[in-house]
Amino acid sequence: MGFPAGFQWGVATAAYQIEGAVAEDGRGPSTWDTFAHTPGRVKDGHTGDVACDHYHRWPEDLDLMAGLGVDAYRFSIAWPRVVPTGSGTVNAAGLDFYDRLVDGLLERGIAPAATLYHWDLPQPLEDAGGWMNRDTAHHFAEYAAVVAERLGDRVGTWITLNEPVVVMAYGYAFGVYAPGHTLMLDALPTAHHQLLGHGLAVTALRDRGARQIGITNHYSPAWPADPGDPADRAAATAFDAFMNRLFTDPVLLGAYPDVVALGGPDPAAFVQDGDLAAISAPIDFLGVNYYQPTRLAAPQEGPLPFEMTEIEGHPVTGMGWPIVPEAFGGLLRGLRERYGDALPPIHVTENGCSFPDEVAADGTVDDARRIEFLDAHIKAVGAAIDDGVDVRGYYTWSLMDNFEWAEGFGPRFGLVHVDYETLARTPKSSYAWYRDLIAAARN
Ligand code: FCB
Repeated sequence: MGFPAGFQWGVATAAYQIEGAVAEDGRGPSTWDTFAHTPGRVKDGHTGDVACDHYHRWPEDLDLMAGLGVDAYRFSIAWPRVVPTGSGTVNAAGLDFYDRLVDGLLERGIAPAATLYHWDLPQPLEDAGGWMNRDTAHHFAEYAAVVAERLGDRVGTWITLNEPVVVMAYGYAFGVYAPGHTLMLDALPTAHHQLLGHGLAVTALRDRGARQIGITNHYSPAWPADPGDPADRAAATAFDAFMNRLFTDPVLLGAYPDVVALGGPDPAAFVQDGDLAAISAPIDFLGVNYYQPTRLAAPQEGPLPFEMTEIEGHPVTGMGWPIVPEAFGGLLRGLRERYGDALPPIHVTENGCSFPDEVAADGTVDDARRIEFLDAHIKAVGAAIDDGVDVRGYYTWSLMDNFEWAEGFGPRFGLVHVDYETLARTPKSSYAWYRDLIAAARN
């Protein structure tokens, strides 16, 4: 199985999940600070106040990456550090942090891949309606321009948004992630405003010399509960349209899927002239995050045109997510089939698994199941490449254990174990395994 020359191996993290230092050097509050500090929202009352303390320990974390031999590091920039109120005044100290981080990466021969929005919306923007408000798209593009002015000479790869579907669905429709609204299908404008923000940011970045720009979407292959049942098949089609295609068709094809036919509100109510042209500004790569497929049944009740049901017959991760590497290969081939020549090169920007890893008495962390997971999924990527899908990079989620959103610090996704009492980092067996895989893939 040949990974092409120049294939980028990396690790990924996100600001709120690792940085901590939420009130330091002028950072403003984000929706995740507010959400995590609201009792009952995050498991065990955990917050990102300290997280992995990466804000102070970043040199150690960069050394760990250098030890892995990764080509690239995907991290996110906290909007509320750079523009504490979301629009207007820029906080130079916030930019200084990422400036040091980027220089530290380059010194170690690691290419920075910066995500501009990984869910930590400045709270004042949420107070004004958040992603339901079209103005947020414009504020996002202004913030993108500010970051590009400062880091554009050294950051080669830019990712505008991380998984806008999760912000829409978990954040605004189902209320399980910040900001915690339960708008159900009425959350649809948050998809459009995020995508508009993406498109405007692409242009802002491009105008400032950026050459490698993409968006990262979350993809979950839709399985009908009973493939022989037309109602279940319709539910799977609706899920695929709302959760996968809604965030890819406008970017690559310049058009929304027909969500009205699937029971959704009419996008004509909030899509303005020129928006789809802005959203479909050419991108240089598509970021693909894959964790698991979803099994759909016809809805019994409720406002959604699908109902998510349990997948049985597959091993599961610590989160209970089914482990189905063949669905990953199918997803990559499916993107190629659906979008054809409109599909830019793919970078797998996240893939990984959580397990309840523990440090043994001898100080080691043996995470054999993670090695098995990564091995199978990386092989699925290799097979898709052999089948002609143009994949140029793979980033494991995550470098280290971190704050897993509403699940708090319970799930451990890292190649490196983090002790949240002492903040000690301990590379797991998967760390050595990934290091060796990268070295072997280069030869
Ligand atoms: C993805 C998120 C990432 C992480 C993984 C497990 O949906 O982008 O921040 O939480 O899931």
